[in-house]
Amino acid sequence: MSWLTGKIVAHRAWTETLFSLRVAAPQLAFQAGQFVRIALDVEGKQVARAFSFVNPPEDPVLEFYGIVVPQGPLSPRLAKLEIGERLVVASNPAGFLILSEVPDCETLWLVATGTGLAPFLSILQTETPWRRFAHVVLVHAVRHARELVYRDLIAEIRRQHENIFRYVSFVSRENALGSLAGRIPQAMRDGRLEKAAGLPLDERSHVMLCGNPAMLKDAQAALMERGLRKHRRRNPGHISVESFW
Ligand SMILES: Cc1cc2nc3c(=O)[nH]c(=O)nc-3n(C[C@H](O)[C@H](O)[C@H](O)COP(=O)(O)OP(=O)(O)OC[C@H]3O[C@@H](n4cnc5c(N)ncnc54)[C@H](O)[C@@H]3O)c2cc1C
Ligand SMILES: NC(=O)c1ccc[n+]([C@@H]2O[C@H](COP(=O)([O-])OP(=O)(O)OC[C@H]3O[C@@H](n4cnc5c(N)ncnc54)[C@H](OP(=O)(O)O)[C@@H]3O)[C@@H](O)[C@H]2O)c1
Repeated sequence: MSWLTGKIVAHRAWTETLFSLRVAAPQLAFQAGQFVRIALDVEGKQVARAFSFVNPPEDPVLEFYGIVVPQGPLSPRLAKLEIGERLVVASNPAGFLILSEVPDCETLWLVATGTGLAPFLSILQTETPWRRFAHVVLVHAVRHARELVYRDLIAEIRRQHENIFRYVSFVSRENALGSLAGRIPQAMRDGRLEKAAGLPLDERSHVMLCGNPAMLKDAQAALMERGLRKHRRRNPGHISVESFW
């Protein structure tokens, strides 16, 4: 593994705590859904953290979507990077939240909390989901409606794949028109998620979960109550997960 030098070419602040960075860096080979370690020098020491690619693999500019964790050593500094500043990127992307690990099925559910949206945006910008699945549902849960980011990109994906693609959002800490209230696992249990998507959540599905580890645990429990199993290469199932912390 080596470190590659990238340069910030665009920075977007979605809210006071949510940001996206676009980084020009030497070409990296990865699969949509994977992550890479990115790093900055902090008081003379290199601090590196995993970040999922938002961009699809063929895009020459890398894109990352992050949240400021106020006490965290890296994220507050990433959020302050300006155009032209340096960011180092590891040369070895990794991760198993990728469609080549997902068995064929009818409906692909991409279920995220917060910044867990990032790897699914990369996957949705490739051709593979549209070739392989009859239905693709993106589910994104946030605390506040203003955190429902990348709406333009999601609208464009919906426009391009309107017969296949559904988008369901959750806003948990305020009332928001057009979004479900509460949490994902509860809505998996009481049928509200299926109703919003207009699709059954059963063994004909594969569910990829990403984000908050507590959501991953609770959602897996809700899915297992429905007869879905964790996916393993040697024992294929219906649930794949990636925890962000
Ligand atoms: C495989 C993988 C992929 C990841 N991809 C992303 C990504 O695309 N975008 C991103 O923002 N983060 C991502 N993370 C988390 C990221 O690596 C850092 O942990 C995060 O940026 C905070 O860094 P920090 O150094 O400021 O604080 P850290 O010391 O790393 O984290 C401190 C605490 O902050 C909380 N926290 C960490 N990450 C998040 C988060 N994303 N959302 C809410 N709370 C969090 C947790 O409670 C954690 O214990 C990913 C992590 C993993 C393991
Ligand atoms: N987002 C903010 O406004 C904000 C502000 C200050 C600091 N932060 C920092 O950012 C971090 C949180 O980031 P975040 O808001 O992106 O992520 P988050 O706390 O993971 O919340 C995102 C969504 O996940 C839901 N969720 C949490 N636990 C769940 C579970 N067990 N099962 C199902 N759903 C669950 C939340 O619902 P609930 O609302 O019901 O929990 C919310 O809808 C914290 O570490 C905090 O320090 C965030």
